[in-house]
Amino acid sequence: MGFGLAVLGSAIGLGNIWRFPYVMGEHGGAAFLLVYLLVVLIMGLPLLLGEFAAGYHTHADGVGAYEKITPERPWRWAGWLGVAAAVVILMYYPVVTAWVAQYLWLALTGDMSVPAGAAQDARFVALTHDGFAVLLAQAIVLCVATGIVAAGVVSGIERTCKVLMPLFAVLLVGLAIYGLSLPGAQQGVDFMFQADWSAVLRPETWLVALGQALFTVGIGMGVMVTYGAYLPDSHALPRIGFAVIAGDTFVGLLACLIIFPAVFSLGLAPAQGPGLAFVILPEVFERMPGGNVAAVAFFLLLLIAALASMVSLLEVPIAVLMSRRGWRRVPAALLTGSVALLVSVPVALGEGTAWLQLDGMPTLLDLADRFASYVLLPLSALAIALVVGWRWQEKAACDAAGVQGIRARRLWWTSVRWLVPVLLVIVLVSGLVTA
Ligand code: PHE
Repeated sequence: MGFGLAVLGSAIGLGNIWRFPYVMGEHGGAAFLLVYLLVVLIMGLPLLLGEFAAGYHTHADGVGAYEKITPERPWRWAGWLGVAAAVVILMYYPVVTAWVAQYLWLALTGDMSVPAGAAQDARFVALTHDGFAVLLAQAIVLCVATGIVAAGVVSGIERTCKVLMPLFAVLLVGLAIYGLSLPGAQQGVDFMFQADWSAVLRPETWLVALGQALFTVGIGMGVMVTYGAYLPDSHALPRIGFAVIAGDTFVGLLACLIIFPAVFSLGLAPAQGPGLAFVILPEVFERMPGGNVAAVAFFLLLLIAALASMVSLLEVPIAVLMSRRGWRRVPAALLTGSVALLVSVPVALGEGTAWLQLDGMPTLLDLADRFASYVLLPLSALAIALVVGWRWQEKAACDAAGVQGIRARRLWWTSVRWLVPVLLVIVLVSGLVTA
């Protein structure tokens, strides 16, 4: 139970609240949801178990684990793709976390209210374009996250998460109920559950769903390898893996149930892009009785969830520096935190500064996010499936993944060895070519 909640603390973050609703809004609502559920079950679950198993078996970090399974080149390098993905995600995760911190500040100072409708939109633009404020918030959140990992109190934040994440879920349920009671909310529900089936036929939808699944569960960055290494007994892994995926998806769905009814109730468009949650949520809080208190609670819990996720992302390069270069924790954390701060500065400024923004081009944040989610993470997932499925023995792998029963073992093994890699190649290639 504790292990599951700790993994869930790393899984739940901006991916659920910020990313899930906006990619769903951009890619067809219900059709996307269906594709997402298929992808996360058919590919996400076997891959998550593969990562757990690699960690459990080798007791190593995200790079070392694959080296121990297969010392041969190029397979031994599989884990580096995950490190690369973690570093690219660290370019923008702190920026979005900084926005959360800024909204928390607004809520605390009682400054959430804006006349109506499109004004929240303007507020979001103004807030994210204020380079100095974003950089300040970003520096603060990165210092806090780096401090947590440097002090080696990662388990402390995990314990905090165990208490706070259930609380967060309760708050989200409350907000969803409120969102559904808004006038015009039905259209939002229709949007979520009435599919535009043509989206299912577009390869792009599948690649986006895959990227979202890997990002939000936290697969392909070596993080789950580290968790697997902590567990004394692998028996419960399949159940925990399933529960984590279900819990993570549940939180993402709740976020959508808060956001989409409000989108339609306000007469806004669902395909707003990365600003969606930040434009819609303040508006919901504003209409709600006691909205300011709810806003403070919400942004505080989201900030903690994002910090916990950022901490596990920072751990990836730190663990590598420590185990491969013999660095001590504090310098490794300081270096990683400083690099994250440096590389995220252009991304933060790119949201608002003309010199970094070309007409009709995605912002740097968008580019980094797409590169990580739609290229690096799927490649890393492919590497994991190939190493586990082709460079490891069936019995050892199934034992380490805790899969029991002949049928279940066959199913998992066939999935990592055949189904997942084949699907990954099809989704990745067709998605990239058509997009
Ligand atoms: N899963 C986290 C989220 O949804 C992001 C994350 C990925 C954190 C991988 C750690 C490791 O926000």
